[in-house]
Amino acid sequence: MTDTAVQRFYRFHAYVYDATRWTILHGRRRAIDALQLKPESSVLEVGCGTGLNFRLLLDRLDPARGSLTGLDFSQEMLQKADVRVKRAGWANVRLVQGDATTMQLGRTFDAVLFAYSLTMIPDWQGALRAAHAHLKPGGKLVVLDFGRFENWGPLAPVMRAWLRSSHVVTLQPYADEIERIFGNCRRTSCRGGYYFLCEADRT
Ligand SMILES: C[S@@+](CC[C@H](N)C(=O)[O-])C[C@H]1O[C@@H](n2cnc3c(N)ncnc32)[C@H](O)[C@@H]1O
Repeated sequence: MTDTAVQRFYRFHAYVYDATRWTILHGRRRAIDALQLKPESSVLEVGCGTGLNFRLLLDRLDPARGSLTGLDFSQEMLQKADVRVKRAGWANVRLVQGDATTMQLGRTFDAVLFAYSLTMIPDWQGALRAAHAHLKPGGKLVVLDFGRFENWGPLAPVMRAWLRSSHVVTLQPYADEIERIFGNCRRTSCRGGYYFLCEADRT
């Protein structure tokens, strides 16, 4: 199958990702706190990239009882994640190459995290439906992503256009769709709309 534009984008960006993204991707700790993980939780990160969230997630899990699955469709990003996992010796991490919209992992999780991945997925509704299908009843979904820049005045369209050039679409009704699929959604807008957090429970 032909690679998508986003896969091609990350073929190069995988090599500069960790060195550059700390400047623009914020709210990780807040998103991971919102997952309310227990030591024995099973977590799926959809669009895990190079694994920048892994340490924060694994700090909350018992290595013998908790587990983390990272899914991404970019081979280059996953290779970086694999190096990170092997270097740290994390035995409870599994990496899967796959598409968020068609994933079928054959199991369910206590928590699903999208961190700066949902807004890059053209069929983001399909990805949310797949996430719902991979959550246990009582499980938690957290989405952290770029917001609408609603309080950024004349800079707002500039920020949105800049992100659009990196395949990030900010103006879709993400929270409404989560509410529709999950029957609940708490949306928090941070830093004037720079990023948002959505939390939902699978009932
Ligand atoms: C901005 S990075 C975020 C990586 C990581 N979650 C983080 O917080 O640093 C977006 C990631 O989503 C992945 N991605 C985008 N669309 C995807 C899809 N349809 N299926 C799986 N992964 C996808 C990209 O390959 C990339 O690694």
